[in-house]
Amino acid sequence: MAATVHQIKPGTYNPELDDAERASRDEIVALQTKRLAWSLKHAYDNVAHYKAAFDRKGVHPSDFRQLSDLSKFPFTVKTDLRDNYPFAMFAVPRESLVRVHASSGTTGKPIVVGYTPKDIDTWATVMARSLRAAGARRGMIIHNSYGYGLFTGGLGAHYGGEKLGCTVVPVSGGMTERQVQLINDFRPDIITVTPSYMLAILDEFKRQGLDPRQSSLKYGVFGAEPWTNAMRAEIEQAFDMDATDIYGLSEVIGPGVAQECVETKDGLHIWEDHFYPEVIDPDTGDVLPDGEKGELVFTSLTKEAFPVIRYRTRDLTRLLPGTARPGMRRMEKITGRSDDMIILRGVNVFPTQIEEVLLGTDWCGGHFIIELTREGRMDEMTVLAEARPESWDGAGLVPHAERAAAYIKNTIGISTTIKVVPPDTLERSLGKARRVFDKRPKG
Ligand code: DLL
Repeated sequence: MAATVHQIKPGTYNPELDDAERASRDEIVALQTKRLAWSLKHAYDNVAHYKAAFDRKGVHPSDFRQLSDLSKFPFTVKTDLRDNYPFAMFAVPRESLVRVHASSGTTGKPIVVGYTPKDIDTWATVMARSLRAAGARRGMIIHNSYGYGLFTGGLGAHYGGEKLGCTVVPVSGGMTERQVQLINDFRPDIITVTPSYMLAILDEFKRQGLDPRQSSLKYGVFGAEPWTNAMRAEIEQAFDMDATDIYGLSEVIGPGVAQECVETKDGLHIWEDHFYPEVIDPDTGDVLPDGEKGELVFTSLTKEAFPVIRYRTRDLTRLLPGTARPGMRRMEKITGRSDDMIILRGVNVFPTQIEEVLLGTDWCGGHFIIELTREGRMDEMTVLAEARPESWDGAGLVPHAERAAAYIKNTIGISTTIKVVPPDTLERSLGKARRVFDKRPKG
């Protein structure tokens, strides 16, 4: 069984928590109202794009009096940021930035984000808070396998770990053999890494004949890509650890926008003193009530260099009331991005739904890819699912594959072909896994 941690009982307060984590809902709402008024004005006064967008919509920061007024303001979308490449979305002179990051993006120019010293401190604060919520404490060792570089994962976790008073090992992604060696030699308490790369580290433990349950790792902080509770169970079992979900995006700050608390593991608390969430209907743009599923939208409340107003993340989730931190709302584990949604003969399907089915079998350990092809006018979906070494029969586990395909047909409602491939066949990602390969002709 996975180790269970109950240092903090839901609804009670850990004396180490920040003031904001102990605040009541009313206190958070009052703080948000004050900070939102500042952020709207800051964006309007200092970023030409926001001034033009607000003017076009006929709204002015002075129209904002209460949180519900935010819905009068325009959304910001990825193309707005791209159109202002590289530095035109900054609300401070370039000379005031101490750091930039950039998200790779699948096509064209990256999105560039920037930070003042105060922004870096805010980020380290929310990231330290996230790590602590995941189980980290001052004095522990963090093995940080998020990539260092333009990606926000590595440096984001790094500064947060240092701020919490941990010893951070800046390993970055890759060189999996050495990752395992360092885990064995340094005996870290915590690992921060994408869930898909954690599976690659798990394989390497086994390859070296080591029992991952005997490793020093007690807590894993996994994010940067969608993953399921089935994957959580897989990792917790394999390593005898507590695994929690961390969410963030470069445009909003990086990792540390929301984090699951280890004592409840019931969705991610959004650090609402710095980021104001809304969930909207992606088609109409209407704000949905809490509890309804839609597209997550964020407005930054304290950021100086790169304020974002109603930024459409394309991530799909719902807002829920706070539990372990009662003043701050939670977001449900993300099902996927609207961009990742596959529409197959009229049925919507996310790679996470396939992950859940595969991890529900006893023969697949979670390595898989989805290929989309077109036969005549029909779209076809093929799942290449890798067998666990101990399950591989040398011949494709055909009855198992057929059973999984039938289960997908009955539960999700789509016809798929599942091809079981031998262990160690699929390429391992060092960071975010690429799950979908669309080979259909364009247009
Ligand atoms: O992925 C920041 C991050 C680093 C988060 C490390 C967590 C850990 P971007 O590269 O800008 O930033 O990608 C952001 O990744 O809009 C989501 O689609 C996806 N994503 C991030 N965290 C999660 C998560 C970082 N926990 C995009 N679950 C976001 C599902 C996630 N998707």
